[in-house]
Amino acid sequence: MAIISSSLDDSNIPRSRKELRLVDSKIIAEEKLNKNVNLARPNSFKEFIGQEQIKSSLKIAIEASKYRKEALEHTLLYGQPGLGKTTLALLISYEMNTKCRVASAPSIERPRDIVGLLLGLKEGEILFIDEIHRLNKLTEELLYSAMEDFRLDLTMGANRGARCRTINLPKFTLIGATTKLASISAPLKDRFGICQKIEFYSNNDLQQIILNFSNLINLQLKNDACCALAKISRGTPRIALRLLKRVRDYAQVIKNTNKISLEIVEKALNSQKIDSKGLDNVDRKFLSFLNLNNNNPIGLDSIAAGMGEDSSMLEFVVEPYLIQIGFIMRTPRGRKLTSLGKKYITSKNEKY
Ligand SMILES: Nc1ncnc2c1ncn2[C@@H]1O[C@H](COP(=O)(O)OP(=O)(O)OP(=O)(O)O)[C@@H](O)[C@H]1O
Ligand SMILES: [Mg+2]
Repeated sequence: MAIISSSLDDSNIPRSRKELRLVDSKIIAEEKLNKNVNLARPNSFKEFIGQEQIKSSLKIAIEASKYRKEALEHTLLYGQPGLGKTTLALLISYEMNTKCRVASAPSIERPRDIVGLLLGLKEGEILFIDEIHRLNKLTEELLYSAMEDFRLDLTMGANRGARCRTINLPKFTLIGATTKLASISAPLKDRFGICQKIEFYSNNDLQQIILNFSNLINLQLKNDACCALAKISRGTPRIALRLLKRVRDYAQVIKNTNKISLEIVEKALNSQKIDSKGLDNVDRKFLSFLNLNNNNPIGLDSIAAGMGEDSSMLEFVVEPYLIQIGFIMRTPRGRKLTSLGKKYITSKNEKY
């Protein structure tokens, strides 16, 4: 069996419960946040709308591991932002009836952070690492043996004084979430027994998500208003819920009502400069930028620099929808407007 050693000094291993709690504190805070603040987060698979294939294979895996009284296999969830990766991870822990510790990869800086997290787990518990593609190399290497053999192989000290220490871990489940599957190394990816891609949602699913949330916040949403919101939500629950909240603000402050008609939706979105296609100022600026360049392909970094925006926000938030509605395409030489995109942006008189 291959032992992957990671060189640590003793001070990297939390020794006492107090130290363990310190490593844990930011993580537990995140857990509480997930449970209490986000009203919209579904509490069961039944409330989690759509993604039927993923739900059904997760349910089978969960039932099977409960039947065998084993921890669920390590699970990797990937897909665009706002599609429900974190929500699914928390639902898995509810369904497994076990505790879920939530951590974000950038917050796991030093080896002692991951060692502390792993030592704090009990049999069958879940460790959820968000943005798992951002783990550093040393942390990732420590995870290899932890995931595969439920043990930590540590080399402590250096040179002649170096000694190996193996710590057995309880059988736990690692759930990783990422928007960038390609940035995860093959050895880490291969250690996940379950790997699920979360797709964009259909209009019907989004309508259901919008309807459920409007009931939760006591809004009376007309059918056509709900359809209009779903249509411009980019296949993404987070955007659907965000738009609904903006419409609620408008309805309550300007119209003094909780009844949402199509007219109120249109006016509210208009006040946010969101058009009937669901495009906002940033989308239109992106399209105009491509249009200005005589429609020659432009690299993402140049677009980001020209617009003064972050390239990864453009790549993961702006571009997928513009590609989905056929307004732009990605070519090996850069991004390019399609004829549909060009027609749309030239029909807009405003300068962005
Ligand atoms: N299938 C669904 N049914 C109902 N609500 C959903 C569903 N998927 C996501 N949501 C809601 O959408 C919001 C965003 O979901 P979540 O935070 O899980 O997305 P994410 O994929 O983890 O995003 P990110 O990549 O940015 O971390 C949450 O409020 C969540 O409750
Ligand atoms: Mg998330």
